[in-house]
Amino acid sequence: MERRKDRVKEIKMKEMEQRNRLAKEYDKFISDYQHKVEIASAIDEINPKEGEYILDAGCGTGRITYRLVEAGCNVVGVDFSKESLKVCRQRCSALNKGNLHLIIADVCNLPLKDCSFDKCISTEVFEQIPTEEERLKMLHELHRVLKPGGKLILTTYNYSLRKIIGRKRETFSGELYFYRYDYFKLKHTISTVFDGKIKIIGILNLIHWLPVNMLNKFEKFLIPIDKFIEKTPFSYLLAHLLSVKCEKIRANCENNGDFNGDKNTKEKQIGEETER
Ligand SMILES: C[S@@+](CC[C@H](N)C(=O)[O-])C[C@H]1O[C@@H](n2cnc3c(N)ncnc32)[C@H](O)[C@@H]1O
Repeated sequence: MERRKDRVKEIKMKEMEQRNRLAKEYDKFISDYQHKVEIASAIDEINPKEGEYILDAGCGTGRITYRLVEAGCNVVGVDFSKESLKVCRQRCSALNKGNLHLIIADVCNLPLKDCSFDKCISTEVFEQIPTEEERLKMLHELHRVLKPGGKLILTTYNYSLRKIIGRKRETFSGELYFYRYDYFKLKHTISTVFDGKIKIIGILNLIHWLPVNMLNKFEKFLIPIDKFIEKTPFSYLLAHLLSVKCEKIRANCENNGDFNGDKNTKEKQIGEETER
């Protein structure tokens, strides 16, 4: 038991160090095509409205955070990589709408009050959480901080195609840990925590099939094809990412509307809380 805990800690430490080291370059690793399709899909699903309280769990350098603040939301970004949060702060600094509050914390142990967010989003983080027990902890934490009726949007790596070609679900790429879900396993795991309706779509259906320069060059034609496949069951097989949308129904909440559940959070914050 102790050895397993140490192993989880070690995997998380390595990820944190790597994210800190590569924070400034993170965006360069993502192609324009992937960026466009993924962000559009995430924003479509979350549908941010001015004044809403939204948690971006594992916000990283702020690809999604930026769009939420831009939409006039009160955004809390949580990540354990201090350097990524610095990039996120910098990226959002020119916006003159919304509010942003950044916190260094583990998404499996959030220093935030129960029932304080209208929506939570977590893109490409879930696959990096080592062990099913930790991933369930993360889901319980996201469920806890959502208001009743609150929505979760979560994207994670799709295993289906790799399963067919005999690859492993659980891998390391350098220092980084990855666990991949297929549609059925993901639905099962989410349903152990979220009792509302669960919708799963497959996004980025073409990136494993066509070279990046072709995707970028012909994006005008390829993005609509990609989006069309998203609406079919083929996407559960083809897609690079599975995107979950679910709702918190059951709740026992008493909250005065404030999300800050840890008196020390201010000390853990990056930069100043920005009120705009
Ligand atoms: C692939 S990046 C995705 C960042 C961002 N959501 C996006 O879509 O651009 C994964 C992020 O999750 C963060 N992360 C991974 N495990 C975490 C944990 N247990 N607690 C907090 N952040 C974590 C990493 O530091 C990294 O910034």
